[in-house]
Amino acid sequence: MKQNLTLLGLQWGDEGKAKLIDVLAEKADVVVRFQGGNNAGHTIVVGGEKTVLHLIPSGILHEKTENLIGNGVVFDMEVFLQEKQKLEAKGVDVSPNRLKVSEIVHLILPYHRQLDRARENLKGSIGTTGRGIGPTYGDKAMRLGVRIGELARPKDFEEKLKSLFEEKKKLLKDLGSVESLEFQAVFDQACQLFEKIREHLVDSARYLRSKTEAGKKILFEGAQGSLLDIDYGTYPFVTSSNTLAGFASCGSGLGPKEVGYILGLTKAYCTRVGSGPFPTECLEGTDERVGQWLAEKGNEFGSTTGRARRCGWLDLVALKRAKDLNALDGIALSKVDVLSGLPEVKLATAYQLEDGETQDFPNFGLEKVRPIYEKMEGWGPLDSVKSEKDLPQSLQKFIRKIEDYTQCPVVFISTGAEREQSLTRGLPL
Ligand code: IMP
Repeated sequence: MKQNLTLLGLQWGDEGKAKLIDVLAEKADVVVRFQGGNNAGHTIVVGGEKTVLHLIPSGILHEKTENLIGNGVVFDMEVFLQEKQKLEAKGVDVSPNRLKVSEIVHLILPYHRQLDRARENLKGSIGTTGRGIGPTYGDKAMRLGVRIGELARPKDFEEKLKSLFEEKKKLLKDLGSVESLEFQAVFDQACQLFEKIREHLVDSARYLRSKTEAGKKILFEGAQGSLLDIDYGTYPFVTSSNTLAGFASCGSGLGPKEVGYILGLTKAYCTRVGSGPFPTECLEGTDERVGQWLAEKGNEFGSTTGRARRCGWLDLVALKRAKDLNALDGIALSKVDVLSGLPEVKLATAYQLEDGETQDFPNFGLEKVRPIYEKMEGWGPLDSVKSEKDLPQSLQKFIRKIEDYTQCPVVFISTGAEREQSLTRGLPL
């Protein structure tokens, strides 16, 4: 890799980041996760074998790459160890030499998972992944969190956990949770898990600084997508972290000028898991059939929870917003082959509001807008595409439309699940 690179999702997650990360991770010296937690699911196929990573950075599958779970991540010790064990069983080197964890990541403790589940049982839930992500980030912001490095002093940790515990128990009871929560069990388990992880801990900022000074190239691996960002996403139907490029710096310990080339990934259509507004969702008439087709052909089922994803047309209004928020250098376009075979494809180019039309993505009332579509001719199978000139004219037009609308070049196009089914145009690799 010629420079550092940050890869982000531009939609509501599930843009197919794993395939691209796999291509990029091979060229990077260090891969860093900087936000989210094990709500993510990055499915990587290596040597025909499928590996789903939720927490460990995708660089782990490339021998020469070091991997860091940065301070901006919320960290579930049990999940980390399970994932590590599965990788070990496949012969992957997961030693502390190449797998590092920031000593200041906030821990997802059992009561965070219980609180997440209890809130999800209430009316008007947002359909979280139930992994305890929101309650952990909430505690971090309220100064009630536990950072993993604190467990190196068990006496202090014990006292702190005790002081937190009563409130959590009361909260869970009030929320109607019937799950058991015992102080001693939580404390003992946390201490045991910690002993198995402590060798992986580093000061992430110092570690990345030394790599930078040694001229190493860093890949920042985003999770979820820009429309799930806690500030700029479709609040409150969002995740609890900042998913935008700006957070690659805060969540890792390098400076904002060091996040490098900013690459955003979008599917050629849209999907969303969980609740929340989705203007271009395929719901009625012929669109409903298109939605089902996309779900089946695109295998749109969550790799973390197995939930079916809602499907819809590409939304250029939302995409332009994501491009602006991230100050993207380039767009990567995935799953164009899923649209193959449709006589006509649609792209939303504006929203109809009660009092007129807009191309500005609104901060409020997204559930009330109606998409205004431009229709374009579809394309056939892409199996024989080897280079750009093999792309059907109609698909080239579709790509140009995205570039013109967003004012950003499309630098990577994925035409199928296999690694070779990719076209690269101008990525700084
Ligand atoms: P949480 O991140 O578990 O709190 O879930 C909040 C919202 O973000 C829900 O709508 C989830 O479905 C969505 N979400 C979280 N992680 C992902 C992801 O990796 N892909 C897609 N959606 C996600």
